[in-house]
Amino acid sequence: MSNVNKNYTEAELKNMSDAELTALGAEMDGVTVAFRKERFPVAGDPAEKRAAVNVGVWAALAIVMGLAFLAIYLFWPWHYKSLGEEGLAWHTLYTPLLGLTSGLSILSLGIAIVQYVKRILPEEISVQRRHDGPSDEIDRRTLTALLNDSWKTSTLGRRKTLQGLLGGAAVLFGLTVVAPLGGAIKNPWKVRHELNYAGDGTMWTSGWTLHEKGVKLYLARDTGTIAEQHEGESGTHYTTQGVTRLVRVRPEDLAAGGMETVFPLAESDVNDGDLYDPQKDVYENHMHSIHGNRNAVMLIRLRNSDAQKVIEREGQEDFHYGDYYAFSKICTHIGCPTSLYEAQTNRILCPCHQSQFDALQYGKPVFGPAARALPQLPVTIDEDGYLVAKGNFIEPVGPAYWERKS
Ligand code: FES
Repeated sequence: MSNVNKNYTEAELKNMSDAELTALGAEMDGVTVAFRKERFPVAGDPAEKRAAVNVGVWAALAIVMGLAFLAIYLFWPWHYKSLGEEGLAWHTLYTPLLGLTSGLSILSLGIAIVQYVKRILPEEISVQRRHDGPSDEIDRRTLTALLNDSWKTSTLGRRKTLQGLLGGAAVLFGLTVVAPLGGAIKNPWKVRHELNYAGDGTMWTSGWTLHEKGVKLYLARDTGTIAEQHEGESGTHYTTQGVTRLVRVRPEDLAAGGMETVFPLAESDVNDGDLYDPQKDVYENHMHSIHGNRNAVMLIRLRNSDAQKVIEREGQEDFHYGDYYAFSKICTHIGCPTSLYEAQTNRILCPCHQSQFDALQYGKPVFGPAARALPQLPVTIDEDGYLVAKGNFIEPVGPAYWERKS
């Protein structure tokens, strides 16, 4: 603790200058200014101008890089391009350029600040002892004076250009941090493309919505088949012609107590069984179905004894086909695949946060953070005995969002 007199009256404190209050504050805090020297004691020193220009150049570079980051973030072609597609090189540069420009913006701003402190602020070495307890009025006054003094000695008040450049650089740097968050905000009402296996871009459509347009949709299993290699006159090639990734499923393909992940397969994209055509190339369409965000469905065949105990949800009584139930695989918590079906208990488990859903009670959540049942897909079989969708989901698939009603 310092022994400095703190019993100043309000009037005495008011009459003291910032310099006097600063000295008093330093004394009271047990601070000893061991060394202090103005960098440019003579006005108009050319070295001062050089220092200011140096700081300004770095701050301006931070601004330019910040602007470049924003321009790239907003206007660069970022949509995914696969191998061989036009614009692949531009797309590949997107992420590195974002990293480069934001990195250079931060670096330049950092160098500008360091340069400012090292070349313009007065040199000072102060030593302070630590003390405990809350600050009283006099300490607060002296601290304010100290900050005022720091502002004055920093000379930033009269350096309008540097003020602007450093301020601009700080704002731009802030934008490089905040702007990317904008990419996470989507308009859920916006239709982004024609309805296809990926839905139409809104959050309540999926490949299964094609059913509403009169498309016959099979429940199809992913075989995992990949492009085939063959030798031609010009060397080795890969082809997807005649390669079938999704195949239709029949009830007898699944054992009692079994589960199969299925995807929507439009009638025009079928290439298996008696409809197989070695010339047909449907591979890409099959992959679009598999990659559709909300397409994965768990087809579960309950054991017959368990199927007797099922409690149907009102309005979904005829959604199942015999012992076959189809639930969306997208967890209603935050969208992980609820991949684990436990036949003994008829529970469906999401491995992300351990939500459990009861397959005997319309996929209702019975444990964990999920609050809504897994949407159920109405299914039946067609005249050839293949499982098909009888309709679309009657509620949006996946996690809740503000606009949804259920
Ligand atoms: S995403 Fe399934 S429990 Fe969290």
